[in-house]
Amino acid sequence: MLPFRLPLLAAILSLALCQYDYDYNPSPQVGPSSGSCPAECECPYNFPTAMYCNDREMKTIPFVPTGIKYVYLQNNHITEIKAGVFDNVTDLLWLILDHNQITSNKIEKGSIDKLTKLEMLHISNNNLTEPVVPNSKAMKELKIIGNQLTKFPASTLSGMENLTSVYLSKNQLSSDSLSGAFKGLKSLILLDISENKMKKLPSGMPSSLLMLYADHNEIDSVPAGYLNKLPSLQYLRMSYNKLQDSGLPAGVFNVSSLLELDLSYNKLKKIPEVGENLEHLYLQVNNINKFDVTSFCKSISPVSYSKVKDLRLDGNNLTQSSLPYEASQCLPLAAELIID
Ligand SMILES: *[C@@H]1O[C@H](CO)[C@@H](O)[C@H](O)[C@H]1NC(C)=O
Ligand SMILES: *[C@@H]1O[C@H](CO)[C@@H](O)[C@H](O)[C@H]1NC(C)=O
Ligand SMILES: *[C@@H]1O[C@H](CO)[C@@H](O)[C@H](O)[C@H]1NC(C)=O
Ligand SMILES: *[C@@H]1O[C@H](CO)[C@@H](O)[C@H](O)[C@H]1NC(C)=O
Ligand SMILES: *[C@@H]1O[C@H](CO)[C@@H](O)[C@H](O)[C@H]1NC(C)=O
Repeated sequence: MLPFRLPLLAAILSLALCQYDYDYNPSPQVGPSSGSCPAECECPYNFPTAMYCNDREMKTIPFVPTGIKYVYLQNNHITEIKAGVFDNVTDLLWLILDHNQITSNKIEKGSIDKLTKLEMLHISNNNLTEPVVPNSKAMKELKIIGNQLTKFPASTLSGMENLTSVYLSKNQLSSDSLSGAFKGLKSLILLDISENKMKKLPSGMPSSLLMLYADHNEIDSVPAGYLNKLPSLQYLRMSYNKLQDSGLPAGVFNVSSLLELDLSYNKLKKIPEVGENLEHLYLQVNNINKFDVTSFCKSISPVSYSKVKDLRLDGNNLTQSSLPYEASQCLPLAAELIID
């Protein structure tokens, strides 16, 4: 049997290889790679709607040929976007431009603004001073991290009903520059505005928001009722700000939606009251000098206790002996309780 089976196996294998060859080397007429793909880019035959021009020291964006839906131009030396380069692909879905040196005034009219079907725009680590976002109602994800944005007109994102994530960290945005910018974005679930120049949280946030990241700003207060307008908010991060007790109205964080609250690296002296469903509370490196169980539990009983699992209080003016004896009854789930 053996001598017979071996050639059969070889035959099956070579057939499989043949099949493989056929699949991956189609005739050269297929896809934009056949001629119209810019010489400096690659439009793979097995993914004919993608155009890869990343990491090639390019200075300008080449004309994008018909049929392309996804364009990768990250890690180049692009400083400008000329009118017309997207004329054949106004139905483009993704445009990736991270790590270039594009300035806002070098983006000509008749370039990005034509992409009215765009779903994803990544233009992080460039030199933009104002956003350049096409008026695409199909937009789902926008990343403009690490630019020099100082303004963000309220109309920039208007009508983008499918927009779910907006990343604007590491810019120069003030609270006023963002006021109203997110109004009406009924699908928005994630907003990252950390590492900006915010003195307060932006107003007019959509009620769909699940995650709000505002670390590394200059925020000293949270308006009363701010979180009551965000009934879906589960993750709120405000580390490295200037929060003081006087800037936090009673109960401002006592909302039932919150699961995680990061207030580390601020100037708080007291532990603020938190909501019944909170699981993770970060308060390290503040000036807290009193552990008050009423911040977590208004009353303590076998059926009424805090759900907090992680509680960080290190880097404050507290020691293990500052813990009142009711603490373990109020916080029975706090396996990770770091005091000092
Ligand atoms: C652009 O579109 C025009 C009109 O459909 C077509 O003639 C031309 O070949 C296209 N150019 C490229 C590079 O796709
Ligand atoms: C973009 O910003 C970088 C770093 O800030 C700077 O070195 C570069 O010269 C800027 N490029 C342009 C075209 O402005
Ligand atoms: C939003 O997404 C839905 C579901 O994917 C889609 O049917 C709808 O056309 C999108 N809206 C826009 C304006 O693109
Ligand atoms: C939070 O608010 C609820 C009422 O909405 C109240 O019953 C509860 O005691 C408050 N929790 C704290 C820790 O103050
Ligand atoms: C730290 O706590 C101790 C005792 O609770 C108190 O005497 C001291 O004044 C506190 N220090 C500061 C800087 O709040």
